[in-house]
Amino acid sequence: MSILMRLGEPGQMEPSTMQRPAETNIDDAVAHEQRVYESSNPTSRRKFEAAKEVLPGGNTRGSLYFDPFPLFFQSARSSKVIDADGHEYSDFGNDLTAALFGHSNEAIVAALKAGLDNGMSYGGTHDHEVAFAREIRHRFRSIERVRFLTSGTEANLAAIRLAKAETGRGLVLGFFGGYHGNVLNWLEPKSEMNVDRADVRLARFNHIETVEQIVRDEGKDIAAILVEPIMGSAGGFVAETTFLSRLRSICDEIGALLIFDEVQTARFALGGYQSVIGVYPNLTTLGKFFGGGLNFGALGGAARHMDRLGPGHARMLSHGGTFSNNVLTMIAGHAALKKVFVQENVDRLNSRSNELRSALLRRANTRGVPLQLGSFGSLISTHFQAEMPRGPEDVKTPAIFRKLFQLFMINNGIFITRRGQFTVSMANTEDEFSALENAFDRFLDRYGELTDDYR
Ligand SMILES: Cc1ncc(COP(=O)(O)O)c(C=O)c1O
Repeated sequence: MSILMRLGEPGQMEPSTMQRPAETNIDDAVAHEQRVYESSNPTSRRKFEAAKEVLPGGNTRGSLYFDPFPLFFQSARSSKVIDADGHEYSDFGNDLTAALFGHSNEAIVAALKAGLDNGMSYGGTHDHEVAFAREIRHRFRSIERVRFLTSGTEANLAAIRLAKAETGRGLVLGFFGGYHGNVLNWLEPKSEMNVDRADVRLARFNHIETVEQIVRDEGKDIAAILVEPIMGSAGGFVAETTFLSRLRSICDEIGALLIFDEVQTARFALGGYQSVIGVYPNLTTLGKFFGGGLNFGALGGAARHMDRLGPGHARMLSHGGTFSNNVLTMIAGHAALKKVFVQENVDRLNSRSNELRSALLRRANTRGVPLQLGSFGSLISTHFQAEMPRGPEDVKTPAIFRKLFQLFMINNGIFITRRGQFTVSMANTEDEFSALENAFDRFLDRYGELTDDYR
């Protein structure tokens, strides 16, 4: 839309939507899309350069950066985001899954407005946290008690600490490519930002023999297995159900706790993805959309484990957090669960997203372009390759092709992040699905053959 709106203005680049012979190689293709992007977004570029004076690399949240420079957003409403150059995009980035309800959902905003005048941070216990926790407990079979926190990272840190305390053991078994927060980033396991590096053992996702090997060697020291039931940030790899069931039985055999990081996957069903696959963890971590759009994290599980976090327990693990029960977050999260994240809306989102998946696959198949769509339902991870990846090591789509795809989509009015995931929200409209499918057609026509270079 944005680029189309600017057609005919003096000095404008040729938009990437116009038919012309396909670039013969990926470098030329990226150079073309980048020229279009740069010439269309001078204000974002200027703001990005200025931001570097006060923010490291002009950035606050690493996952939002992409080269040559990220868009600066001015506002967001429902399913649209508007950037500093005035372009309006259909938002299929949706805050890296956090904006499940779209932007400024009316029911959530109404609840927040009603709450705002009564104080933004009580510094005391209140009904909203109890009501919200009760609703989560009602939905999740594996959750009896909830500890609220302020981020998914914090939830996973607390889960690990609790598991270590409960088992009296020191190791955590996770997976290469798992992302559990900014200090539990196993996409980059050696990063010095990661905590507890010496206490973490990493196996290969969907390769149970690598788990069993670690368990054979060090099983008696393992406090927990921490896993995303669908590996999200790394590329939407769906865990085979037998893999997760085996993790469940291994934990039972060795006396470790199974932790499901459902920060992304809880969106797939009211009771989380665990209710879809029928494998239940000891502890579950939640985040992102669950706070209704405000800062959020939560840890839930059986009372016998969770109660150690509470005052009065003989072996209490003392654990605070200034904004953990922030009244606005509790109001927003509770309103979201009661009014928006309801069965009918989840069903509609899943089925519409599945139709979108089929449409994208059909379009690629017709043209003989290899396409795999990872993840589940409303999270659609694109991999332009012949085989569906089961884990990070199976990804063949090169970073430069992802760059091409993202810049093309942005140049065509569809906002997605560099990782190439369509994140569908409850606010996305039929017009936007059509616009996305049409842009995808044009992308395939123009650049689909470039996949020959690496497949
Ligand atoms: C699966 C998963 N776990 C945990 C986190 C960390 O959550 P937060 O960014 O709120 O700390 C993320 C964030 O992307 C995530 O995707």
